[in-house]
Amino acid sequence: MTCHINPSILSADFSRLGEELTAISTADAAHIDVMDGHFVPNLTWGLPVVKRLKEVSPVPFDVHLMIEDADRWAPDYAEVGCESVTFHAEAAIAPIKLARTLRESGAKAGMALRPATAVEPYLDMLIELDMLLIMTVEPGFGGQKFLDVTLPKIRRAAAALEGSDAPVMVQVDGGITEETIVRAAEAGATCFVAGSSVYGTDDVEVAIAGLRQAAAF
Ligand code: DX5
Ligand code: ZN
Repeated sequence: MTCHINPSILSADFSRLGEELTAISTADAAHIDVMDGHFVPNLTWGLPVVKRLKEVSPVPFDVHLMIEDADRWAPDYAEVGCESVTFHAEAAIAPIKLARTLRESGAKAGMALRPATAVEPYLDMLIELDMLLIMTVEPGFGGQKFLDVTLPKIRRAAAALEGSDAPVMVQVDGGITEETIVRAAEAGATCFVAGSSVYGTDDVEVAIAGLRQAAAF
């Protein structure tokens, strides 16, 4: 499976989001963090803003919903054309039904796990997903330190998927740098979200290329 680099616009300049999206045309997708101030103690943007940004983006949208009541809100993001929609397992009442609804709407279905949420209860339903997001920091804020304690979970998820026919990407999000991406890739992650290590640098294209090269280890 080829590796994907998805910059998170959470670390972009919010006064120029359209331009910040244009700047990452060499990325595989733009990672869009939706936070509701309840599931996580931070607030970003909602559907109307995401819908408008989508219209000016040169790359697909990888939406990460850090919101309560995911069953109610996630399908709306698929309906407005977001290519991939990821809900949190901890926030969904009926994750299998929700994943199917997202796929029926034409989006890739992703499910995220907070660092302390075990993957084992979800192994049998991974076939319903296109992506499993293993959070490598507590969700809510950019610029945090990568949690090495999540590496065994990445390994177990990747090992479970190796034996199956389901082409499920293992995404990691939080604290990804040219250094930590190597450990995450070695553990089996194939899709990497990076906020501060892309938008916090002078040249985002150089940063994306550097991460891509480091992930290829
Ligand atoms: C955090 C978000 C991340 C965040 C990552 O809850 O889900 O996508 O933007 O930021 P960095 O890469 O700076 O850790
Ligand atoms: Zn995210």
